[in-house]
Amino acid sequence: MAIIYHEESKSFHLYNRFISYIIEVMPNGMLKNVYYGKRIHDRSDYSYQGNDGFLMHGVCSVDGGLALQHQKQEYPAPGIGDYRESAFLIRQENGSHISRFLYSYHTIYEGKKPLENLPATYVEKKSEATGIDIILYDSLTDTDLVLTYTIYEDLPVITRSARFEQKGEQTIVLEKALSACVDFPDKEYEMVHLSGAWGRERHIKIRKLEEGTQSIDSIRGVSGAEHNPFIALKRPHTTEFTGEVYGFSFVYSGNFLAKVEVTPHEITRVILGIHPYNFAWPLKKGDSFQTPEVVMVYSEEGLNGMSRVFHELYATRLARGTWRDKERPILINNWEATYFNFNEEKILSIAQKAKSVGIELFVLDDGWYGERNIDDRSLGDWYPNPEKLPHGVSGLSEKIEAMGLKFGIWIEPEMVNKNSDLYRAHPDWLISTPERYESMCRTQHILDYSRKEVVDYIFGLLDKLISESKISYVKWDMNRYMSEAYSRTAKANMQGTVMHRHILGVYNLYERLIQKHPDILFESCASGGARFDPGMLYYAPQTWCSDDTDAAERLKIQYGTSLVYPVRSMGAHVSAVPNHQVNRMTSIDMRASVAFFGAFGYELDLNTLSEEELNRVKEQIEFYKKNRRLFQFGTFTRILSPFEGNTTCWMVSNEDATQVIAAYYQVLNVANGPWLKVKLAGLKPDTLYQVSYEDKQYVMYGSEIMQIGIPVDRKEFTKKGDFTSILFILQAKKGEA
Ligand code: DGJ
Repeated sequence: MAIIYHEESKSFHLYNRFISYIIEVMPNGMLKNVYYGKRIHDRSDYSYQGNDGFLMHGVCSVDGGLALQHQKQEYPAPGIGDYRESAFLIRQENGSHISRFLYSYHTIYEGKKPLENLPATYVEKKSEATGIDIILYDSLTDTDLVLTYTIYEDLPVITRSARFEQKGEQTIVLEKALSACVDFPDKEYEMVHLSGAWGRERHIKIRKLEEGTQSIDSIRGVSGAEHNPFIALKRPHTTEFTGEVYGFSFVYSGNFLAKVEVTPHEITRVILGIHPYNFAWPLKKGDSFQTPEVVMVYSEEGLNGMSRVFHELYATRLARGTWRDKERPILINNWEATYFNFNEEKILSIAQKAKSVGIELFVLDDGWYGERNIDDRSLGDWYPNPEKLPHGVSGLSEKIEAMGLKFGIWIEPEMVNKNSDLYRAHPDWLISTPERYESMCRTQHILDYSRKEVVDYIFGLLDKLISESKISYVKWDMNRYMSEAYSRTAKANMQGTVMHRHILGVYNLYERLIQKHPDILFESCASGGARFDPGMLYYAPQTWCSDDTDAAERLKIQYGTSLVYPVRSMGAHVSAVPNHQVNRMTSIDMRASVAFFGAFGYELDLNTLSEEELNRVKEQIEFYKKNRRLFQFGTFTRILSPFEGNTTCWMVSNEDATQVIAAYYQVLNVANGPWLKVKLAGLKPDTLYQVSYEDKQYVMYGSEIMQIGIPVDRKEFTKKGDFTSILFILQAKKGEA
């Protein structure tokens, strides 16, 4: 068991060969964080570390001198002398917000318990992890607070969540219930986060910590394109390859808060959970509230070290189902090829061409249902448009399957247009506040998934659609943020539950569809990548990365996304030029060499390509199929960051680094540039590799490649112009592995 309890000192040591996490019950019964980081030796008592008090004016103390403001706490309470962000807030019947949860008991167990109705990481065998529930109790309100921790055996990972259980007679209202808090003893960190907007999601931002607060959040009802539910603290000298970093990722798809607060005594608090905005959850006797999970990763091998752990955990112990370990099909999507303007004939012609070059799956995007020829109508009417699809979705799917392609379809099940049969039949199914203006976004509104009958109805329609056609893949889109959040049927005191219950409704619909149709590959999407979060990955093992398909822009988007999310979870397509988002011309080679590092596909009408381009597409598909396992299941390593310069480099390698594909990209051409040597990482130093790219062949030791670099003739490279790439193929020479 990887959790030790020291009875006398009342301390807990969660450890594996990488990390230690130590908690102590303070003399007054509250929980203190003693240490989190690289594995340290166990000892039976850490109390010699003291209580980290600072004697000074202006500090409130509880229980004979314990100044909570200066304590490193596990799940800090509000209003009792700690003026930092608290982990929770409870309103009692008398209006008081003061709680006092003290250690009551704990249980340590093998394995990991699922979180009811919530996405979470899991284990396949009990021996993979050890869990502990620490139960704290507030005697005045008769409420239990269960803090759950799981430590994985073979990964530097701890997961955390909290549950409130009301046992007392009074109804309490949870006004805030975050998932995890870690207090670090110093502030020598930089905060790393992924921020952006539509079309430029998950750009890496790094800022030095200072006294005060710095946070990212979403109150949009979804995780959002603006900030991903992830932050990391890294030491200032930490690079991609070396140095300490602590990553925190929130397994949730709705409102979130991720905050870092530094006190004038330089204690750094990291706190994450559901955003308290518009959150008020009544708990009467017998009720409980479970927070979603925070995944914490520690690495002393830099940002790549952290990402490797997130990739492994999320690809194998968060993603589930038939497709988790299967190679993903090469798809073609018709969105950028046709937008709403298509009919069956057009679709079949794109599919036919796709089949002829080796594509495996055709995906019919938005526009196939109701009267959807423009985006102001028909969301909610999930039955085919007879003019566009005279033989329905089922007829089209059969024809596509008869060609030897799989068929996939786009849906946006959480939404409704006012111009739809669904809205006309159920105008009160919208999330909106009575007698207030209903903000619109892409002329659409959100269905109230906090209501079971709404989820049931949509499940019925989608289940029918999927059951009646030959559907192998579903792209599940979501194209607006929530505003005027209010449920028409919830009582006044339940309105603060609506935003969270809506997300639970989304999860419920996903779960029911997955259970009923386990072989379907789901890809989540939200105006591109506005809901690329771990919550979604639990249901859909891949996510459309961004609506920006320009190869140069995608370097930043995919590089940033890879901080947390595995390559095979990132939908990445080759699209037409001039690019539809930035009007840029890039070569078909550059476009493919970026999209290869993702769940690869095409999003254009192949009929418009020249013969030469089509041949290149054929070669790309052959190449990808041959190397698909490596691209999708290999270890991804970032080498050169597009956020730091004109060049980007990344690579994938198999388990023993005997097969490697690396890509080097240059955005703008450089006149008379310096020597070009591309250095890779993670190779076997004393192994000879056959290195090939374009018409070049070298035999080099791993150590040479890592220290000196693969030589590239600058003069030749310069002839390629702007937006260029080189793909290096490395194979350990026979007998060398
Ligand atoms: C937004 C998605 O990101 C696009 O790929 C496309 O599916 C459109 N929605 C369709 O409306």
